Amino acid sequence: MKGVLIMKVGIIVHSHTGNTLTVAQRLKEKLLAGEHSVILEQVMAVNEDHSAAVNIELKSIPDLNAYDGLVFGAPVRGLSLSPVMKAYLSQLPSLEGKKIGCYVTQYFPYPWMGGYRAIKQMRKECEAKGGKVFETGIVNWSHKERESRITDVLEKLIRFN
Ligand SMILES: Cc1cc2nc3c(=O)[nH]c(=O)nc-3n(C[C@H](O)[C@H](O)[C@H](O)COP(=O)(O)O)c2cc1C
Repeated sequence: MKGVLIMKVGIIVHSHTGNTLTVAQRLKEKLLAGEHSVILEQVMAVNEDHSAAVNIELKSIPDLNAYDGLVFGAPVRGLSLSPVMKAYLSQLPSLEGKKIGCYVTQYFPYPWMGGYRAIKQMRKECEAKGGKVFETGIVNWSHKERESRITDVLEKLIRFN
């Protein structure tokens, strides 16, 4: 595409029951249609038990060196960012020079029920590592207009240029 920078994008998600992953798969399709190269990778913990909010041991730790664009996706847990994504982001060496989009999925219908806080935590971790967050999004799973929320978030997160 003329005048559009083609990026190597990594979509890095934590998803326990599949909601966040579904959004990631749709985002991947959209980015591919925009001719970006895209890889979707999952962050996983050894113990995905919900009560294990401390001492998270990561099982799958995607390496981000190859990407110049990133999208991080995760669920909201206990009005906060999923502890697994938090543990993953905090162990990253650097995000210097990377363009980053972030999104969360949450069950409750309104973003003030944990979504805003989780996004704030994600942004803070990314910026602390030198990353540039260009866009964020929240999908409220039980909202009656969930589908249009997803579409909005996807539109925002493909704007790498
Ligand atoms: C332990 C736990 C805590 C949760 N806390 C919240 C919450 O504070 N606010 C909310 O809206 N949803 C909460 N949820 C619901 C998830 O955020 C929601 O179902 C999300 O879309 C799951 O994403 P996933 O399918 O990718 O794992 C919680 C779910 C679990 C299992």
